Amino acid sequence: MIGDWIDVGPLAAIPLRGARTVPVAGGEEIAIFRTGDDAVYALVNRCPHKQGPLSQGIVHGHAVACPLHNMRISLASGEAMGDDEGCVPTIPVRVDAGRVLLSRMGAIATALAA
Ligand code: FES
Repeated sequence: MIGDWIDVGPLAAIPLRGARTVPVAGGEEIAIFRTGDDAVYALVNRCPHKQGPLSQGIVHGHAVACPLHNMRISLASGEAMGDDEGCVPTIPVRVDAGRVLLSRMGAIATALAA
């Protein structure tokens, strides 16, 4: 743990254009995505449509396609793209010296909302 940030492991542990999940005690699982250009985003691992596991979707650019019905979700905003509607909470995340750091307050907020 580094101050207000929780070290959730090395960036290299997340596949390019893929994701890994982080459990939150008392809260919802968080999906951490790595794009093809090495940007990192964190979203609650629950599609706003019918709770599909976004971590199992395919990352295209800075969006993920839900594995259940293919709704595209912006990784930056958590909002559905195109004609779809809905939004999933995002959690601040950053990379420092190859380590992925998740906002502690953001993770706590997901637990409080659950
Ligand atoms: S549950 Fe994600 S698109 Fe339906």
